[in-house]
Amino acid sequence: MRIIETVSSIRQVSQHITRPLGLVPTMGYLHDGHVSLVNRAKSDNDSVVVSIFINPKQFDLTEDLTGYPRNLQRDIKILEDLDVNFVFVPEVSEIYPENYATYVDVGEMSRKLEGSSRPGHFLGVTTVVTKLFNVIRPDRAYFGQKDGQQAVIVKRLVRDLNFETEIVIVPTVREYDGLAMSSRNSRLTEQQREAATVINRALSEAIYMWESGVTDSVTLRRTVEKVVSTEPLAKLDYVSISDVDTLDELNNVYSEAMISVAVWFDNVRLIDNKVIGGNRLE
Ligand code: PAF
Repeated sequence: MRIIETVSSIRQVSQHITRPLGLVPTMGYLHDGHVSLVNRAKSDNDSVVVSIFINPKQFDLTEDLTGYPRNLQRDIKILEDLDVNFVFVPEVSEIYPENYATYVDVGEMSRKLEGSSRPGHFLGVTTVVTKLFNVIRPDRAYFGQKDGQQAVIVKRLVRDLNFETEIVIVPTVREYDGLAMSSRNSRLTEQQREAATVINRALSEAIYMWESGVTDSVTLRRTVEKVVSTEPLAKLDYVSISDVDTLDELNNVYSEAMISVAVWFDNVRLIDNKVIGGNRLE
């Protein structure tokens, strides 16, 4: 496995690598969710590049950026054991040189849900993803369903800008008690960690209600709110029931919808989602 730090080297390597080439973009502090992305990339492609870059432009709160967990040595060991071909670990100045000015905006859908709670977040995500795609030119790129809105937006980005990269969405990996794996889980106290299982319970209850015949979104949203409110350490930021392609809020769910939540545990904010009536994100 080779570790590459510059844009010019990763560009050169990607031009000569055996294809198809799969890219797994990450911000590091790898967990089993990332491992499942890498394993899928390995089974689909002849070569795999993993990028590790804590992208400052997608953090709205400085606090969140400085507190974001990191452990590069451990990440490198995990990726070595997984036998990936290249790890791209650029410095911030390599991706955003002085006087950097260009951003990629996927429009209205970037300003809903996470975009409304974290203004500018997706501008950062879509800009860095565009840059990674431009430099590495992957045949496929792998994203987790846990970041459901990100998955939908990246698909739109690729369609709108005619990238030749296929976007593969990999199912959320959960802990034994249903909590979706996330690097941010490591910032929870023991009590908050236990309380965070309420997220999966709330989403599962809404799915159960829908499967029992409840189609109106108000009732489904209230169900989530009610379950989350049973946990004193949890503070619901939003619950949304949206179209899986446009992210528009739905009044009724007759076929498919993504039900997404963001929940605060003190200063740690976790997100999760489930798709009602199918799994179109995949
Ligand atoms: O999902 C993430 O870890 C990040 O948003 C991504 C896709 C690596 C872009 O920085």
